[in-house]
Amino acid sequence: MVSGENKRVENMNYFELLAWLGIGSSHPGGFPATKQNLDSVEIKPEEYVLDAGCGSGLSACYLAKTTGCRIIGIDINPLMIEKASQRAENEGISQLVEFRVADITHLPFAENSFDWVLAESITVFLDKVKVYQEFYRVLKPEGRVADLEMALLRELPSSLKHQLAECFGLSTDPLPFEEWCQAITQAGFQDVEIKNPQPLKNNGNLIMNDLMKDWLLVKDLADKVSKQPGLIPRLQKNASFIRKTQGYFGFGLIYGRKPTPPPLPILPKLGFKRWVLKLLRSKRSD
Ligand SMILES: C[S@@+](CC[C@H](N)C(=O)[O-])C[C@H]1O[C@@H](n2cnc3c(N)ncnc32)[C@H](O)[C@@H]1O
Repeated sequence: MVSGENKRVENMNYFELLAWLGIGSSHPGGFPATKQNLDSVEIKPEEYVLDAGCGSGLSACYLAKTTGCRIIGIDINPLMIEKASQRAENEGISQLVEFRVADITHLPFAENSFDWVLAESITVFLDKVKVYQEFYRVLKPEGRVADLEMALLRELPSSLKHQLAECFGLSTDPLPFEEWCQAITQAGFQDVEIKNPQPLKNNGNLIMNDLMKDWLLVKDLADKVSKQPGLIPRLQKNASFIRKTQGYFGFGLIYGRKPTPPPLPILPKLGFKRWVLKLLRSKRSD
């Protein structure tokens, strides 16, 4: 089953673990980074936003509440979508936010649908160019992508590569910032830049304090710990990996804009009578 809800914590993959916990900010820098990034992109109330890989919907609900824009969040895990919808309902913003199960690599939306695609810690696990091409397709001309991802600041020794895969899954592949820029440029985006680049700090307590304000996570956490004691060592293992890899990872907001389409060729202006005459002449010469 994709959600992993009924598995032992030891057998859950990273995404299943996050969904089971209902963690709202499972990305580098946590919720403080989300707020910093949203401040720097200034989304307007009339804009339509896609949150790709929305998890339990914390960022999407926060964005809708603070800007009044319409937003749709998608995630491949049905349990995440169930929790995100519950969050929107409890916070009284279901009229602005919708959540749907969908795959980011095959988005169920027409071309030119959105003003913004937001993403947080999802592209790092997938084929980057393919994902950015899909974002490009569903964005309107001039639409923008803002994707918060982990970056590699220096080469990881192979033992740490192995641990990275163990903690976050085999497909986890953080790129150096220049390569993130190349991937999004390759998909056709312009004005590419990394906003708010910063090292991944060992500020687990700060992030934890913020996480503990999220009612969706805290609701039945004690119950989960008592039923599945393996949860604590599993979380400790990930935290200790972040601690010992200080200096190797950073994160930033990968930003790009879909260009304006080139203008249509301007046809010479003809009056109606001249146009009919021209047409008749061309028919006669056929
Ligand atoms: C690390 S979590 C980040 C969630 C959320 N953006 C956040 O910052 O809290 C990655 C999310 O991507 C989802 N995901 C993984 N592969 C996906 C795919 N192909 N399409 C859509 N969602 C996917 C997972 O279910 C998970 O919720």
